[in-house]
Amino acid sequence: MTIHIGAQPGDIAETVLLPGDPYRAKWAAETFLKDVKLVNEVRGMLGFTGTWKGNRVTIHGSGMGMPSLSIYVNELIKDYGAKTLIRIGSCGAMQEKVKVRDIILAMTATTLSTPSSGIFKEMNFAPCCDYGLLRAAADASQKKGSDTHVGGIYSSDVFYDERPDLNKQMTRHGILGVEMEAAELYNLALRHDCRALAVLTVSDHLITGDALPSDQREKSFGDMVEIALEAAFT
Ligand code: HPA
Repeated sequence: MTIHIGAQPGDIAETVLLPGDPYRAKWAAETFLKDVKLVNEVRGMLGFTGTWKGNRVTIHGSGMGMPSLSIYVNELIKDYGAKTLIRIGSCGAMQEKVKVRDIILAMTATTLSTPSSGIFKEMNFAPCCDYGLLRAAADASQKKGSDTHVGGIYSSDVFYDERPDLNKQMTRHGILGVEMEAAELYNLALRHDCRALAVLTVSDHLITGDALPSDQREKSFGDMVEIALEAAFT
């Protein structure tokens, strides 16, 4: 047990999928895994371990924002030996060519700050994903027929943004979408010699104002889980 995770040693798999929402972790585990066991419920942050095509996998909520993700990912890596960590989440599109429901695979994530900013100080560190996971996820996503975009995203510290000028600069520099977790996941994975990737579904569009209808959210989330699982075990 750690401060935030109640799992016993050995309860967590080397491969961990990280949705922000703990109830999405529950739904994904019950929908896609076999022999599912609840391994964490401290503070209502649910984690489940099961198997997918014979491979052990944990699906654990990260919470919203980089400080929350940082707590869970630090403990999953340092205390439970997680090696492959894939964020599965939603994002807002920042380019016209990216549509609601499309998949974004984040090569890198731009930030104003992360929980690791104190380490990097004056350095503008460029966190990047694992190339093997990225390539496998791109193949899996295209095989599924999902419109797939690979490139940079923006990991923001805020959802309710008071700086529209920053979003404009991100769009101007080709950033595909905005979310709130990937950059710190990549920082931690790189620091601890782990593999990481963020697989994102576009849930809303910052330019057009489009949004994914609620009846299509589950299907899009399910596609993302399957892409992440295929990528992890390819
Ligand atoms: N901003 C930040 N995070 C998000 C958004 C957004 O517009 N959409 C989904 N996650």
